[in-house]
Amino acid sequence: MINKIKSGIYIHSPFCTTKCHYCDFYSITDRLNDMDRLVDCIIKEIKNSKQLIDKKYQFDTIFFGGGTPSLMEASQIERILNTLNDKYNLAGNLEVTLECNPDSLELNKLIDFKSIGINRISIGFQSLDNNILKVLSRDHSSKQCISSYEDARKAKIENINIDLIYCIPEQTQKIWFNTLSNVIDLDPEHISCYSLTVEKNTKLHSMVRNKEISMPSQDIDYEMFNLTRGTLTNNNFNQYEISNFSKTKMECLHNLHYWTLDPYLAFGPSAYGFDGKKRWRNSRSLDQYMTMVENNMEPIVDIENLTSNDSFNDLLMNGLRLNKGVHLKQLENFYEGDFSLFKQKAKEKWQNLEIKNNRMKLDLRGQLICDLITSDLFQ
Ligand SMILES: C[S@@+](CC[C@H](N)C(=O)[O-])C[C@H]1O[C@@H](n2cnc3c(N)ncnc32)[C@H](O)[C@@H]1O
Ligand code: SF4
Repeated sequence: MINKIKSGIYIHSPFCTTKCHYCDFYSITDRLNDMDRLVDCIIKEIKNSKQLIDKKYQFDTIFFGGGTPSLMEASQIERILNTLNDKYNLAGNLEVTLECNPDSLELNKLIDFKSIGINRISIGFQSLDNNILKVLSRDHSSKQCISSYEDARKAKIENINIDLIYCIPEQTQKIWFNTLSNVIDLDPEHISCYSLTVEKNTKLHSMVRNKEISMPSQDIDYEMFNLTRGTLTNNNFNQYEISNFSKTKMECLHNLHYWTLDPYLAFGPSAYGFDGKKRWRNSRSLDQYMTMVENNMEPIVDIENLTSNDSFNDLLMNGLRLNKGVHLKQLENFYEGDFSLFKQKAKEKWQNLEIKNNRMKLDLRGQLICDLITSDLFQ
């Protein structure tokens, strides 16, 4: 029997009720009336897609990301899931994640989501401090975060991730610690903690540039990262990726596909797909995406064929973010020079790089300067 290639499927729904100042993801407001049309387009895109159709690919994860895909009706998501099921070889033990905003959830909706096969939800709390939520321009309160979580449990959703952000202007260590502690008390299966990034083309970027707001220093970022890691690991969460912590065996399988460079399909505006050799990207304009699909065109606007160098660098960049690191054999496959010399030089230069048991990984201090080490090792 031929071994199946484990793969993932990503669906992007860009609609949001408001646009957060810091967000650079493809998300748009005031277009919710187009939801039905978008769902029809996603279904048509799936039916017409020629990517990863070989039966050797087995899909064990589906991730509805956004935007705010929890603004979709369960019946709309169900139509997409049925189309995927008709076309692709889906695994029996499928992980199906839905990204949710606290203000877009209510008990009945969660019960419907569960009944159509959503078995993992990721709720974007970001903070449990109302002032910090305001700084982030979030459209919900900490109370709504807690009640959305409680409703998800009432709906018997057994795999819940909470997304949090730290290193936010006005956020002290104490405020961050309180948020972390309160989230730990809720007892979710998974917690993601991201340091606030000032992305170009966001309102936050112009606010920082115009000195209307000032970002915490790099030292504060490091301190908060250490506080995050210490607090979560002391409370039975395993860090398996720099920003991701889970209870035993509750890692996000979909994100692991990205970090280990497994293939993945992608549907919806701005979605990226990958087949191991090339990466493709759909149009980042809802109107262009929908017009292309409705005119029987693939909505792909960019295809990048990866060289060995690109694959080596991607593997290093993603693999060193994982606590278990990256497999040396996999790296060696893409290295064009003398790999023994590469390992020796890397070890001599970076004390925080461990090379043992056929893997290369960062120690705890190395995680703080992951980007610096990775870019230095690029081929
Ligand atoms: C694009 S959002 C989609 C989920 C949902 N709409 C929400 O806002 O919670 C996915 C996650 O990315 C993270 N994120 C987005 N922009 C970020 C930024 N500039 N810096 C750090 N984390 C960010 C947030 O934690 C967020 O939950
Ligand atoms: S709700 Fe989420 S996706 Fe929408 S703008 Fe805010 S951070 Fe971005």
